[in-house]
Amino acid sequence: MLLYKIFITIAIIGLIVPAIAQTPIKIMPLGDSITEWGCWRAYLWNKLQQRGIENIDFVGSVTSTTTCNVSDWDRDNEGHAGYLAIDIANNNQLVGWLSSANPDIVVMHLGTNDIANNKQTLDIITAFSTLVDQMRASKPTMKILVAKIIPSSFNIQGTVNLNDAISPWALSKNMTTSVIMVVDQYIGFSTSDLIDGVHPNDSGDQKIANVWYQPLVNAINDSQNGC
Ligand SMILES: *[C@@H]1O[C@H](CO)[C@@H](O)[C@H](O)[C@H]1NC(C)=O
Ligand SMILES: *[C@@H]1O[C@H](CO)[C@@H](O)[C@H](O)[C@H]1NC(C)=O
Ligand SMILES: *[C@@H]1O[C@H](CO)[C@@H](O)[C@H](O)[C@H]1NC(C)=O
Ligand SMILES: *[C@@H]1O[C@H](CO)[C@@H](O)[C@H](O)[C@H]1NC(C)=O
Repeated sequence: MLLYKIFITIAIIGLIVPAIAQTPIKIMPLGDSITEWGCWRAYLWNKLQQRGIENIDFVGSVTSTTTCNVSDWDRDNEGHAGYLAIDIANNNQLVGWLSSANPDIVVMHLGTNDIANNKQTLDIITAFSTLVDQMRASKPTMKILVAKIIPSSFNIQGTVNLNDAISPWALSKNMTTSVIMVVDQYIGFSTSDLIDGVHPNDSGDQKIANVWYQPLVNAINDSQNGC
């Protein structure tokens, strides 16, 4: 009887351990239309799969219908066309998105609509702080990738000012338990990589995917190792 129970226990542990080991790392692409519509998510997904990084799950309440030159990719994201970082923070919207999707990693490209609406850099940065605090309330070990955002055809000084403020802000909010990585999507991105002055064309999408790739791989690795 005892041996039988031990056998059952071992059998159950044998079932549970591989299940835990295989839990995919959940990645939330967070942003506006550049995230919701952008094929960079498809290219990023494709590149990760091709390099054998398959234990991942893109998450979010939005399932984009964009047609991209990738046959099969995870369309889930938290990109909301037209949204301002300031509004997402003031309306407390991220809290619900996080509790539904439960990400381990957030990949954030936000601020373009704030700049289009001539919001102050300091107010955008204050919103970013609120969002980071909400991410950490959802998961204390959240890995956070924050973009220095791509240029637009309008208010370029607003973009430059925001991007300049992001590094010192991220450093001040950084935690060893919940690292913030600043990922520079501005440098090397030209306004000719835009299709309409705001959204990336195919060359722009490829650039964005390639710039996210290595920092995201590092964050996935850290999440898998429980750091
Ligand atoms: C789509 O991707 C394939 C394979 O990567 C490539 O050969 C082809 O040129 C791409 N087509 C377009 C329209 O970009
Ligand atoms: C946060 O700390 C990590 C190392 O712990 C570092 O790699 C990263 O660059 C830091 N982030 C910022 C914004 O300084
Ligand atoms: C996108 O922009 C690049 C860089 O300027 C340009 O060479 C390319 O023709 C554009 N592609 C599309 C599909 O608009
Ligand atoms: C993955 O993470 C582990 C533990 O943090 C580290 O030792 C290792 O160098 C990392 N590997 C890569 C390829 O970054």
